[in-house]
Amino acid sequence: MGQRLTEPVITDLMARALADPAMLSLAAGFTDNTQLPKSLVGQAVAGLTAPESDPETLQYGTNAGRTGLREAVCRIVSRHEGEDASRITPEQVFLAQGSQQALYLSMQVLCEPGDIILVEEPTYFVFMEMLQGLGLEARSIPYSPDTGIDFGKLEQLFLEMQSTGEWARVRAVYIEGYFSNPSSRSQPASAKSGLANFLRERNAILPIIEDAAYRDLYFEKPWSAMSTLSMPEFDGFPVLYLGTFDKPFASGLKSGFGICNHQEWRDNMLFAKGHQDFGSSNFVQALIERVVSTDAYDAHVAAVRAHYQGKAFQVQAILEAEGLADVGWQWEPPSGGLYFWLKGPEGFDTSIGSDFCEACLANKVLYVPGDLCLAGGQPRNCVRLSYGVLLGAKLDEAVRRFVRTATAG
Ligand SMILES: Cc1ncc(COP(=O)(O)O)c(C=O)c1O
Repeated sequence: MGQRLTEPVITDLMARALADPAMLSLAAGFTDNTQLPKSLVGQAVAGLTAPESDPETLQYGTNAGRTGLREAVCRIVSRHEGEDASRITPEQVFLAQGSQQALYLSMQVLCEPGDIILVEEPTYFVFMEMLQGLGLEARSIPYSPDTGIDFGKLEQLFLEMQSTGEWARVRAVYIEGYFSNPSSRSQPASAKSGLANFLRERNAILPIIEDAAYRDLYFEKPWSAMSTLSMPEFDGFPVLYLGTFDKPFASGLKSGFGICNHQEWRDNMLFAKGHQDFGSSNFVQALIERVVSTDAYDAHVAAVRAHYQGKAFQVQAILEAEGLADVGWQWEPPSGGLYFWLKGPEGFDTSIGSDFCEACLANKVLYVPGDLCLAGGQPRNCVRLSYGVLLGAKLDEAVRRFVRTATAG
């Protein structure tokens, strides 16, 4: 039992950060404590627990979650440019303990050990750890800086996997369309529609999981591509769209959702959810339902966006001022999300245990080694820096420590 489970490497890094107060962490994907909506949550709790209120919110809820919040989820997702509201209905929505739970359920009911999931290059490393724990494998969809997906290389991958028999084991595709973790990249509409066409032409109508955890954390403007739920090219594909209230609102509430257009897949996820918890916290859902029904929610999210945009500028300024590019590092400043994805010089090694990683630990700064986010574990010269947690002078200092370590050799 549990023989495939190992302690995630990142937990060790985090433990070191907690054990040493002088360590500054650019590793954790946490949100910023100063942005957590204490008063909105306080008001909502007061309303829900007022003497005249209905105590049902403190009772068990339903497995799929509160109807009011499921309707609100549809409104929130549908109001993005290009979304087709007629394809996003409350019956398709289920509420979960964070989008992470929905992601786990999706894999649990789709896959058998040995199955393969196509992921982006790079991808959400916690998802890859989950795959490993379930005995599943990940393969990267080749990335192109110009078009998002390198379809020529994808064709090669397809042919190789076909010749080895692996293609028959591909069970689903996982993409992050908006301000991805770890790269902060968003998928152009042409990449998504191209992917649908590519798969359809090869008779591979695979389940698509579109993880949109950071969609609402855009800086200047939302990413314009509609989701795979609404794209006509994905007609006939089972699609699961994942969203969360944790990143834009309060991560401690652990509340997210899935919207699934395929009834059997959705039913199976709900059966498995029934076995796990027969419904996520009804009270938390009621709280969020109350907040999202007011303008205060949108105002809050707008303020959070502006805050993270300011921090991203701050990080960019230090990376530039300290001369990281002069020693061959490359990156695109993010236009949303919580991360910088940096690429070191060819052959540079940032992996756990590398000289660079040890030097960063000695200089008391933590980052996420990029190889953890790559299905093949290669290349090893990338890094994810998160500006979620640290603030002001500490954020400056952490980035400075990182760059000074990178430029020291
Ligand atoms: C890409 C991505 N998906 C899903 C999650 C899960 O988030 P939550 O369970 O808090 O909704 C995270 C959390 O960091 C994430 O980065």
